[in-house]
Amino acid sequence: MKPNVFLSRRLPPAVVERLQAASNLLLHAENRVATKAEVIAGLQGREALLCTVPDKIDAEIIASCPALKVIANFGVGYNNIDVAAATARKIPVTNTPGVLTDATADIAFGLLMATARRFGEGERMVRARKWTGWEPLQMLGTDVTGSTLGLIGFGRIGKAMAKRARAFDMNLLYWNRTRLPLAEEAELGVTYAAFDDVLARADFVSLHVAYSPETHHLIGDAALKRMKSSAFIVNTTRGSVIDEKALVRSLQAKTIAGAGLDVFEREPQMEEELYGMENVVLLPHLGSATIGTRTKMGLMAVENLLAGCAGQRPPNCVNPQVYD
Ligand code: DGY
Repeated sequence: MKPNVFLSRRLPPAVVERLQAASNLLLHAENRVATKAEVIAGLQGREALLCTVPDKIDAEIIASCPALKVIANFGVGYNNIDVAAATARKIPVTNTPGVLTDATADIAFGLLMATARRFGEGERMVRARKWTGWEPLQMLGTDVTGSTLGLIGFGRIGKAMAKRARAFDMNLLYWNRTRLPLAEEAELGVTYAAFDDVLARADFVSLHVAYSPETHHLIGDAALKRMKSSAFIVNTTRGSVIDEKALVRSLQAKTIAGAGLDVFEREPQMEEELYGMENVVLLPHLGSATIGTRTKMGLMAVENLLAGCAGQRPPNCVNPQVYD
């Protein structure tokens, strides 16, 4: 018997086709974030949910859907799901690690380059037809090659960022909850430093920690004050790793030089002041947004979901204690 599945958002065609073949699929009819009531209605009598990062799957939803057996997230981050509530009901929650590493590191490095070399500002000037020609002192940026990159968090995406930075002869500092073995540090060409030290020494700080209560506002006033006034910060993880109001204060006071942001605390909203800042590059959460990557994420989520429906442990279960 095919499982009954609710898919909260339209996904790449190959993913929907796979789900349609393997399940009785209900796709949320409108191409927008489903409301809580719509998710609950969609899950009545259905045992599986395939949801996306903007869907807030809270304890109320979990309690209101008695047939629910598995929650498969389309994303590596899963802070949108109340995992504790799911675990209490022995519902496995899954994510999509690995397949979006390169796409996200590409966006992080792109943001680093765009802030350093003022891509956004230059593009806006050209499109506004205000460019009057080459000038020796026009829009001078900051050298990337040979500068120091500080990586806060050094998991898969942090390491992929380091790989890109090595091609630019950058000096690589990292801070991570767990330090790597010395041999691995040497192989990757990275130097471990204390959190405050990385912030103080880096010309570019790139954030790669997962979001959790421990990393909430990890970068606030104190951390931003540690950074050089010539340094830039890049965020491709989750908006709330940075205290966005503190970031605005720091940019206004010029205690840092600029920021490249793909994620925000209250997406799609952000602190109003950011819209008007020339030294900030703003992207609409594009980290994994390539057709190849989103297809891989979707197919991985489907495999997780089908395993959960079949009573097997899904390959990417984030709460394996449900099987204890
Ligand atoms: C993720 O997978 O967590 C990303 O933020 C979605 O692009």
